[in-house]
Amino acid sequence: MASFDKVITGGEIVTASDRYFADIGIKDGVIAAIGRDLDGAAEVIDAAGKLVLPGGIDSHCHIDQPSSSGAITADDFESGTRSAACGGTTMIIPFAAQHRGQSLRAVVQDYHARAEGKAHTDYAFHLIISDPTDQVLGQELPALIKDGYTSFKIYLTYDSLKLDDRQVLDVLATARREGAMVMIHAENHDVINWLTERLLESGHDAPPFHAVAHAAAAEREATHRAITLAEIVDQPMLVVHVSAKAAIDEIREAKARGLKIYGETCPQYLFLTAHDMDREGFEGAKYMCSPPPRDKANQEHVWNGLTSGVFDVFSSDHAPYLYSGDEGKAQHGHGCGFHRVANGVPGLEIRMPLLFSEGVRTGRLDIHRFVDLCCTRPARMYGLSPRKGTIAVGSDADIVLWDTEKTVTITQELLHDNMDYTPYEGRVCTGWPVLTLTGGEVVYRDGEFVARKGKGRFIPCDLPETAKPLGQSIHGFNPAEGRYAGRYEA
Ligand code: URP
Ligand code: ZN
Ligand code: ZN
Repeated sequence: MASFDKVITGGEIVTASDRYFADIGIKDGVIAAIGRDLDGAAEVIDAAGKLVLPGGIDSHCHIDQPSSSGAITADDFESGTRSAACGGTTMIIPFAAQHRGQSLRAVVQDYHARAEGKAHTDYAFHLIISDPTDQVLGQELPALIKDGYTSFKIYLTYDSLKLDDRQVLDVLATARREGAMVMIHAENHDVINWLTERLLESGHDAPPFHAVAHAAAAEREATHRAITLAEIVDQPMLVVHVSAKAAIDEIREAKARGLKIYGETCPQYLFLTAHDMDREGFEGAKYMCSPPPRDKANQEHVWNGLTSGVFDVFSSDHAPYLYSGDEGKAQHGHGCGFHRVANGVPGLEIRMPLLFSEGVRTGRLDIHRFVDLCCTRPARMYGLSPRKGTIAVGSDADIVLWDTEKTVTITQELLHDNMDYTPYEGRVCTGWPVLTLTGGEVVYRDGEFVARKGKGRFIPCDLPETAKPLGQSIHGFNPAEGRYAGRYEA
């Protein structure tokens, strides 16, 4: 009997810390050996001349997510994970989103039904909490955390999702007690609404005014406030989809003070600007997301945040809302104003190729940092390490071969999602994944998606190390005991 189901030979393995030539032996979907001249395999994959990287983890994407506004995401678990795998991503963490009045447990059950049998990559779920009732925080959430749903996103904006500061504190204190990770969408809701009203009154309803309404100062204020609330409760927190210098400075300063505040950014803040929303007709809607892309100067600050360690993870925030058709952005927004357009851009498939091309190839981003941001750190951030996010004996055989010389011009026809546009149309990338294995099975080879039935599994998350509190609030409040320590220093 062969010792391995597959051996990947002759490639150069790159992890978040190491780079070396070795073969990888795969058995039962798991990396069984790493070494020289491995033989005894039923199948050999020749990786000569290729980099062998861990599969990416996209820890922020919206797949088959029902929205309270009625907007529908174009990708379900089948098309979303197909697109992910073709872009070198082998695990996704989308959101089981609670709408007000819903039971969290029922939301999770419904989301499992949407994923079951469809996914081509493994997946875990974050929760979105929009209704933190006593029942939700006292019973449902603790039970779900124990079942492997150990991270949740909360919002400071959107009418249907926004929590007030008191509710944020309640959620943070629950997360602290249970050991879970909190992700936060930080934009000041009242500022956005106030500015939107003023803009619409003056007839400024076209897509570029979305960026004016979603001012960088509104992002900074909300980021500052969120960090303050997390600090008071002594709860680690990740600020998602950060777009601008002002918010980056808040996160950097919090980290410098020793707080466990984490940052995430996305391709749209490196490769798009607000200027992209200023296009003929309603085309600018294709570039609308929240927070919005800013300007060239802010792009530089985002790059610096990636290289300097302010950002911990690089996710797509893939929010696939079609442009055309009855449900499309154009139909909903044209003549009604930018505020009616579903927020979000697609990016699941091009997340890693774009960062590789513009970061690693240009020498701007160390390749180990690239692996860390896209694969290893997301696994650690959400309690999936060492099973996911690295190449090691015992880890799942989620592996991607990269051709560092392959040049590809991005067009929607080439991508594998269910979208009708990509905001990166025409952009040229050098460095592209050429083979993807998920759980030891080849699902993508040389531009072709080759999997048939979705074999992706739900992976429960452990309580993440990253979510461990510092020990005591510097304000003297001990959330575990629910009382102040009696110190008066601030
Ligand atoms: O515009 C965005 N980011 N849409 C997706 C939803 C979210 O807030 O992440
Ligand atoms: Zn968000
Ligand atoms: Zn999002």
